[in-house]
Parts: sequence; structure tokens; C-alpha cells
Amino acid sequence: MKDQIKNHWNGRALGYDKNVRHVIYFRRDKTIWQRIFAEFLGKSPLKILDVGTGPGIVANLIAEMGHDVTGIDVSERMLKKAAENSATLHNTLDFVQGDAENLPFDDESFDAVVNRYVLWSLPDPKKALAEWHRVLTPGGRLVIVDGIWYIGSKDKPWTKRLWELLSMILAERRWHGYQSSDDGWRGKLWSSNVERPETDAEILRGLGFEEILVVANLNKKLRTTLDYLKYGHCGNQFLVTGVK
Ligand SMILES: C[S@@+](CC[C@H](N)C(=O)[O-])C[C@H]1O[C@@H](n2cnc3c(N)ncnc32)[C@H](O)[C@@H]1O
Repeated sequence: MKDQIKNHWNGRALGYDKNVRHVIYFRRDKTIWQRIFAEFLGKSPLKILDVGTGPGIVANLIAEMGHDVTGIDVSERMLKKAAENSATLHNTLDFVQGDAENLPFDDESFDAVVNRYVLWSLPDPKKALAEWHRVLTPGGRLVIVDGIWYIGSKDKPWTKRLWELLSMILAERRWHGYQSSDDGWRGKLWSSNVERPETDAEILRGLGFEEILVVANLNKKLRTTLDYLKYGHCGNQFLVTGVK
């Protein structure tokens, strides 16, 4: 399944980057996301790992907040985009190719671990979270941002399909089709079969994280009405955080 997932992300690198890049280039989106991360990361410079960095969107946002950031991703094509985005923004970050479930870093080597839209597509979330816990310094913070993305295409109501069609026109990029395609592995993922973010918080508790906090509806903080029409059908977003 891991190879299928890696191929999926390699194939999506170009389109994905186009669709999320506005977050690092447009002031409004940038400010909203930086505010969200600042709430949990504070203002002092930290050594931060961005897991599943993709085209480096979050990595660049937090680097510009003064943090020393390393991004890791399994997809070489995503990492190529990440390097291009950082160069354009004149940010200096480290990007490493590797697996979120087997990190190539020493124990206690980061003050914080962040990740956005990554955990849902990892085959073994407990293993991944244990790894992220391992590389955190004691007192270090984990911030997970993710969403309820997968809805089995068979069960999808016609209203949702109509919304997807509308969003294709509004978003001006024909990328949403992939959201509804079930190419085998998506339906088998843990995230398609459990309640989230409750399960995330439960795993964090099991690993010994403290001060666990769940923000169950991030969409409210993120979206204008137009954004909601464009992207709201993709699913509700949430944040889960805890301290080692
Ligand atoms: C939806 S993208 C999110 C990218 C970025 N975090 C963002 O917020 O825009 C998911 C990313 O997770 C990466 N990924 C998936 N499985 C991974 C794994 N096992 N190890 C490292 N990265 C992985 C994918 O290659 C992809 O870049």
C-alpha cells in the first residue's frame, strides 16, 4: 500500500502545489495559518520538523515566523516543488526524503513536530505518532492538522456531487475529481474507518502526550464564504495538539 500511496503523491505533486501555493503567497491565507501555528508554537525560535511537507507550504510559513525548519516527505516530486517554493521565497530550509513512520532522525532532536493533511494517508498512524513522539524533546509540542477527507463515492449524495462540480468551476482548476475517485487504498485506510479527531487524541493519550487539545472545526477559522463554496466539500478540518 505504501508504494501506491507514494505513487499517488508523486503524481499529484504538480497539481497539488498549484492549488495550495496561495497559502504562502497571499497575505490573507498566510496570516490565518501563521496565527493558527503561532498559537501553539509560541514566538521563540524553535527547531521544527514538518512531516509530509509536500511542496513545503507549512514549512515555509513557519520558517518565516523565525523557526529553524526541516521538512520530510516520501515523494521526490513534492520535495522538488518544496525546494522551488523556498527558493522563490528566499527561505532557507532543509528538505529530506524519508518515511513519516521511520524517521531518519535521532531521539529528542526537535522542539516541535507539525504536519498538515498527512496523517490520514499513513497506513500505520500509531507507528507514525510514536516516531514523532520519539524525535520530540521532552516538553516539545506536536501539532496535527488534518481533515475528514474520505467519503466513499458510493454513498455520496447528489448534492455533494453537485457541489464538487460547482467547485471545479469556482476553483478554476480541475483537480477535485481525485477526491471522489476511490483507487483502492483510500477506503482501506484507518482514517476512513474511525471517528476523527477523537481517535487521534486517544492515540496521543496512549503514547503519553500531555496537555492534549482538540480544535474540532478549523474550517470556521480558515474560510471565507467563497472559499467554503470552492473547497468546503473536501471535508471538515481539525487540529490536535499535545506536549511530550
Ligand atoms: C496532502 S499532502 C500535504 C502536504 C503539506 N503538508 C501541506 O500541508 O500542504 C500529503 C503529503 O504527505 C506525504 N506523505 C505521504 N505518506 C508519507 C510517508 N509515509 N512519509 C512521508 N511523507 C508522506 C505525501 O508525499 C504528500 O506530500
